[in-house]
Amino acid sequence: MVQINERGVNVAVLGATGQVGMVMRRVLDERDFPVRDLRFLASARSAGQVLDWRGHAIEVEDVAKADLSGIDIAIFSAGGGTSREWAPKFAEAGAYVIDNSSQWRMHDDVPLVVAEVNPDDLDEIPSGIVANPNCTTMAIMPVLKPLSDAFGLKRLIVSSYQAVSGAGRAGVEQLMNEAKAAVDQGADKLVFGGDAIDFPEPTKVVRTIAFNEVPFIGDIVDDGSEETDEEQKLRNESRKILHLPDLKASCTCVRVGVFTAHGMSVNAEFERDVTPDEARAVLREAEAVELVDIPTAQLAAGKTPSFVGRIRQDQAVDGHKGLAFFVTNDNLRKGAALNAVELAEIIARKHFPDQL
Ligand SMILES: NC(=O)c1ccc[n+]([C@@H]2O[C@H](COP(=O)([O-])OP(=O)(O)OC[C@H]3O[C@@H](n4cnc5c(N)ncnc54)[C@H](OP(=O)(O)O)[C@@H]3O)[C@@H](O)[C@H]2O)c1
Repeated sequence: MVQINERGVNVAVLGATGQVGMVMRRVLDERDFPVRDLRFLASARSAGQVLDWRGHAIEVEDVAKADLSGIDIAIFSAGGGTSREWAPKFAEAGAYVIDNSSQWRMHDDVPLVVAEVNPDDLDEIPSGIVANPNCTTMAIMPVLKPLSDAFGLKRLIVSSYQAVSGAGRAGVEQLMNEAKAAVDQGADKLVFGGDAIDFPEPTKVVRTIAFNEVPFIGDIVDDGSEETDEEQKLRNESRKILHLPDLKASCTCVRVGVFTAHGMSVNAEFERDVTPDEARAVLREAEAVELVDIPTAQLAAGKTPSFVGRIRQDQAVDGHKGLAFFVTNDNLRKGAALNAVELAEIIARKHFPDQL
């Protein structure tokens, strides 16, 4: 534990050495988070590693050996299993836990929150645990919420184009290794593609991901739907965050050979008429949203907003009740680390005002 300031809240980051943890450390700094004591935790693998934070050398602690007392807010990005084991223990010891995994998102006593969309859901945190939404859900919520308020969202069809960093460091390494191996085999083989290229065996994404698209993320859910859990997360989490329990939503999640920033093709149907111009007028005023002509992954990577563009009337919906558009967003920033830090800021203001 290292004291950073005289006043502020005591913060612990579990999974501090991972990709999301790395961005989390940067975002805590960028946003000048009101931190008093700061602790970094991970597994025994990284324990003892020293990470710099604003000139302070902070030694990574093995969570299994850590003293959990005195933590006000713990931000977790260490996977579902770690969260299942440790979130209740941190909460029991008095911390509010903000969890990035899918472990707690659909629990009734766990608020699932996008900072700009439903911050009031943080007024009561009965279990001491708060969930950060899945990165695809997160990206489209700031866009859908104001449209839903204005025109009454009824039905959603989403196809995602998800970056490999969404699959952790292992996903990034797979794309890097495959891309290097393929490029080394020369342009002719790249043009022929398919079996002409000799790729290494996939190590994380279920098929070759370099120069490819793989319509399979997560695991098939054992409910006869043949959907993956990633596809169901988008439907279930959207319903919970937007407070629309009957929202009809169908999703196809696709991994693509991009390192960072997810894309979402969205077809949304509304109760009331809406034209693209009316939608743009609403979105121009929306928090955490930026209107652009062509929202690409490269544009979104390293940035904060959800970029939305290609807004059109959906020609498959009668009248003017449907919109088609595309959204891109950095899956490691707003999709994970930034929203978690924003939730920590809201919790600090609501629940620790005397320490600020
Ligand atoms: N990547 C994304 O776009 C994204 C978006 C939203 C949410 N998330 C969620 O964020 C979490 C982390 O993702 P990531 O991409 O950062 O993964 P990552 O790069 O693989 O990092 C995993 C982190 O968790 C720690 N960890 C793993 N097992 C642990 C254990 N048993 N006890 C304590 N610490 C443990 C690792 O510590 P060591 O260094 O000790 O191994 C590392 O710090 C996951 O729950 C993921 O679902 C990711």
